[in-house]
Amino acid sequence: MTMDLDHALASRSAQWLVTGAAGFIGSHLVEALLRAGQKVRGLDNFATGHRSNLEDVRIRVGAPAWANFAFMEADIRDRAACAAAVRGVDHVLHQAALGSVPRSLADPLTTHDVNATGFANVIDAARLAGVASFAYASSSSVYGDEPNLPKVEDRLGRVLSPYALTKLHNELTADVYRRGYGFGSVGLRYFNVFGPRQDPEGAYAAVIPRWAAAMIAGEAVAIHGDGETSRDFCYVANAVQANLRAALFAPAGETILLNIAVGERTSLTELFGLLRDGLAREGVAYGLAPDHGDFRAGDVRHSLADIGAAERTIGYRPSHRIEEGLAEALPWYRQVAKVAGR
Ligand SMILES: NC(=O)c1ccc[n+]([C@@H]2O[C@H](COP(=O)([O-])OP(=O)(O)OC[C@H]3O[C@@H](n4cnc5c(N)ncnc54)[C@H](O)[C@@H]3O)[C@@H](O)[C@H]2O)c1
Repeated sequence: MTMDLDHALASRSAQWLVTGAAGFIGSHLVEALLRAGQKVRGLDNFATGHRSNLEDVRIRVGAPAWANFAFMEADIRDRAACAAAVRGVDHVLHQAALGSVPRSLADPLTTHDVNATGFANVIDAARLAGVASFAYASSSSVYGDEPNLPKVEDRLGRVLSPYALTKLHNELTADVYRRGYGFGSVGLRYFNVFGPRQDPEGAYAAVIPRWAAAMIAGEAVAIHGDGETSRDFCYVANAVQANLRAALFAPAGETILLNIAVGERTSLTELFGLLRDGLAREGVAYGLAPDHGDFRAGDVRHSLADIGAAERTIGYRPSHRIEEGLAEALPWYRQVAKVAGR
């Protein structure tokens, strides 16, 4: 991380709550906080997260740090569980949600229950407990059909999916909590986060783990559309940095919304090339050309973040560009494939 953040963490040990702790981003937050000597409570119901992610963290941080971790298997739709989870907590990092635009189109009501009602349960419990800070995972999907690039925080279009609607709902809820109760928060609009422990399996897997797993297995890769669709891919270490900075450095009592990305755009065709070349350096030769299919409903065409507000408000500076992130992530995908016998 960076010196100001390292120093802030070293100078005080606080109690943190990470919801979605067994998931991809949540498990990285748990790992970073435990490494920094903090006390962490993790909450998850394993809807899409895995015990193996927490097991990986346990092994990586070592026994003394792991002793500062407590896990609650619980559902954020359960109000009493949320109240118990925030007891004695200084900082909440709320990550638990059902991700994926296609999942939300297939089952909009479950996405609503978890992402909107669950969010309301967590923020209300946090308000009543009087936590010092509340940061949560929003999403670049809130920009919807806003055509201008780069995306700036105060210029939104119409949302294109039930998933995006829930994230917009979270942001509006957070603002009502500031107006009604003086409860401040930081919404982090993640742009396509990737890295180790991101699930490559299932119909709703994100593009980087899905393609990496397919390429390692020598299977065909399908590009939705002409390949010119682009994204601002953000390595998970950047998202971790943003959360910790939001908790420790954001001005109190405000509704803050920040883009969390790198500020660079990569097309799907370019991503395919980066993955193929990165895997070649890992000793995996991939000779197939990508298949082109239809564009996917609910997908935005281009995505690129202006990260100036995050820089100014919390001192966020991405430590990894896409190439550096892939160089760290690909060996992990290779390892996972080996263990799975692919
Ligand atoms: N990964 C990305 O690119 C990205 C982009 C934008 C926003 N986000 C948001 O970031 C957050 C973390 O996403 P992720 O990529 O780590 O996904 P993930 O699926 O790996 O993690 C989400 C975690 O939340 C847990 N969860 C789901 N429903 C729950 C419930 N009802 N009660 C308790 N726990 C529950 C899951 O089991 C999982 O461990 C989510 O809010 C997601 O919407 C992610």
